[in-house]
Amino acid sequence: RSDPLVDAQGRVLTYLRVSVTDACNYRCLYCGPQQTHGIFDDSQIMQLCRIFKNLGIDTIRITGGEPLVRKDLPSLVASIASLGFSRIGMTTNGSLLSENALPLAHAGLNGVNISLDATEPSLFASLSGGYSVEPVLLGIEKALEAGLQVKLNCVPLLDTYQKQIPQVMELARSLGVPVRFIELMPIGNGCLCQGVPFTLVRSFLRSNYGNPEPLEAAGVGGSGPARYSYYGNVAVGTIEALSACFCSACNRLRLTSNGLLRSCLYHDDSLELLPLLKANATDAQIELAIRQFVTKKPLHHDFALQGMSSCSLASFGG
Ligand code: GTP
Ligand code: 5AD
Ligand code: SF4
Repeated sequence: RSDPLVDAQGRVLTYLRVSVTDACNYRCLYCGPQQTHGIFDDSQIMQLCRIFKNLGIDTIRITGGEPLVRKDLPSLVASIASLGFSRIGMTTNGSLLSENALPLAHAGLNGVNISLDATEPSLFASLSGGYSVEPVLLGIEKALEAGLQVKLNCVPLLDTYQKQIPQVMELARSLGVPVRFIELMPIGNGCLCQGVPFTLVRSFLRSNYGNPEPLEAAGVGGSGPARYSYYGNVAVGTIEALSACFCSACNRLRLTSNGLLRSCLYHDDSLELLPLLKANATDAQIELAIRQFVTKKPLHHDFALQGMSSCSLASFGG
């Protein structure tokens, strides 16, 4: 195996987000428009995962769009798992999880992060674009039964956070799973929504659940931007890309479904991998291109510069 992937700041890149499709079956208020680009085929995803494994990536997170709109996902996960990563996670809206949880667990998936912005049916519908919360709740149950590690993701909005937070906290408490509250980012339709300042989120949590107790991220299977505490007996993570930028400790790369490698999730800098794959480039040639590309990984995102006013037109894209 070759040397690890390191950028010019000395950040070691060990975590790859792989977007397997742009398509999504939900229309969350703050998320992006659909794109219709061609996607990597499974053998190309496999070739790239093999290359990244060799470059020291130890964690894969499958994202979308909604990954489960791809019917063949368990078999793709099984192939990726056969490469021997330490951890494979998936981020999903949960709507198609009930029938997929067991096949995914058998395929070698370790855990799922499930987007759940509310549990009350009418609030969930208004935030998701008119969909029912029931299949998501069933999906969460089946994921736990299948032995997958579950974390909930909730993006609180200014108008509704006082309803969203207690609803999602109550489900997390009753299931004994961690929940992460995510600061709205100015991408996709995030620019059209009003997020809630995280000082308000924290004071709301404190006044409803008492003072937080520190909690190591490792204890809840996190290796990313979330910072965790216990509120009561619920493990609560906050992901604050704007107000508490975590870029200096970033370990991530992202493969988009339309054939690009991004060295920062929210920066336009990208390497076109599809042409290399189509030209039958060797693994060694692709590795070299990746190594050179990641050295230029941006120091951080430019959200602070852009602000919520000027927004990336790109879809959220996992
Ligand atoms: P684990 O720590 O492995 O559980 O994953 P995660 O929390 O990073 O992944 P998930 O897909 O659940 O993402 C939760 C939120 O964090 C989403 O809003 C992501 O866009 C955001 N996020 C994940 N990684 C990064 C990152 O490197 N930079 C930024 N700015 N946001 C990120
Ligand atoms: N800002 C913050 N989080 C977002 N997500 C989607 N769009 C945005 C945005 N504009 C969240 C989803 C999902 C995770 C992958 O990212 O809710 O849980
Ligand atoms: Fe890493 Fe870019 Fe995310 Fe910052 S915004 S944590 S540099 S991927």
